[in-house]
Amino acid sequence: MSLDNEKLLKNCQKILIDNRRGSYTLPAEGIYPHQWLWDSCFMSIGLAHFDKAAAKQELKSLARGQWANGMLPCIIFAKDLRYGLDRYFWDSKRNLDAPKKIATSGITQSPMLAEAVIKIGKQLSVAEKNDWYKSMFSVIVKYHQWLYQERDPDNTGLVFQIHPWEVGLDNTPPWISEIRNLHKPWWLPIIRVLPVDLAMSLLRRDTRITNKKQRISNIDALFYFDIILRLRKADYLIDEFVENNDWILQDLTYNCILMRANQHLRTIADAIGKKLPDDLSQSVKLTENALNKLWDEDDSEYYSRNYATKKLVKQTSIASLMPLYSQSISHPRAIKLVEKLHEQNQFAVPFPVPTVPVNSKWFSEHSYWQGPAWINTNWLIVQGLRNYGFNKEAKLIADKSLELVAEHGCWEYFSPLDGTPVGAKNFSWTAALAIDFLKS
Ligand code: GLC
Repeated sequence: MSLDNEKLLKNCQKILIDNRRGSYTLPAEGIYPHQWLWDSCFMSIGLAHFDKAAAKQELKSLARGQWANGMLPCIIFAKDLRYGLDRYFWDSKRNLDAPKKIATSGITQSPMLAEAVIKIGKQLSVAEKNDWYKSMFSVIVKYHQWLYQERDPDNTGLVFQIHPWEVGLDNTPPWISEIRNLHKPWWLPIIRVLPVDLAMSLLRRDTRITNKKQRISNIDALFYFDIILRLRKADYLIDEFVENNDWILQDLTYNCILMRANQHLRTIADAIGKKLPDDLSQSVKLTENALNKLWDEDDSEYYSRNYATKKLVKQTSIASLMPLYSQSISHPRAIKLVEKLHEQNQFAVPFPVPTVPVNSKWFSEHSYWQGPAWINTNWLIVQGLRNYGFNKEAKLIADKSLELVAEHGCWEYFSPLDGTPVGAKNFSWTAALAIDFLKS
């Protein structure tokens, strides 16, 4: 490794060490004071390269938040009194399946756990790896069983999400457009004429700490809070909620991650000589071909789908490239997706990969998940490209990601046009995945 890369590696390791709080790591000091599900999975992938015990502990720490029904919540709240309002806002203990001793959110997040378990396994001896797999197997099995039972009641092979936070790409165009078109809360006309910005600045930690032009708008944030309040009112029991809300999506990114996770779960099961429960095995089989339902032949593109109407939500975003990560599409389809990466009016920009193509009406270079390049989505695409043998494209994205981090530090996201760093600084998954890029 070059001297520059050694220095970069040390800087990234230091961020993860500094952001560590006991058994887990914060996404970033101040702005994100709790443990998040997919963040911890990404972090553990970086940690595994220099502190295997911490990497394992990071995921074990996620398991303590698992609900009795199997759900892994997107947030496990810090005990710190300063953040009592966050716990109070969610109040997920209304649901009898929520853990008794710790406070969590009442919704989940993208299922990266199996990938993280496998990546840690790669750093262990065979005996250690088997022990590690054994200790995590039932956590993942229960989680995936819950996903299918609650989120795929019609056995389509695709699971639905009840909030954009469940995917983790908060204001990505497919979700924002569906919610704005279909969700008409009674308070909307009133709020439009009120000065909501002041009230929201008290409620929102992100816009106090970072530039509000780089975050989700206040009206969209209100939609998101409103959905949580309504879920909370239903004690996080979702049957009626799903019937009454027609903007719920079978999200493309989420389902691609689940497909890859299922493949990893099978690898784990085989390694330790276990079988998947029959119900899960059947669901996993259905999922293998389910992406075809999200393919639009005319546009040569995959999209998310509205759960109620089964109509594709034709808003292009970085999700269009995620089927590469799923590793469950044909090579000819993979070639079609890679062509998009080469298109200058779509994803071929100086610092790829923009979270929205540059020719989209939604594109905005500094605006959260509506344009900026993020290191976690880059990492997912790089894994997919490598698996399909597109090594040149994978190397370009990994190198450009490292260039951004070396030049500016581990920011939350970056302008894809000139690399300007945006959002929170010393962001843990940026550090962790830069470490993985340096080491693989
Ligand atoms: C934001 C991101 C989400 C992430 C969380 C913590 O909400 O959109 O993906 O998990 O912050 O970093």
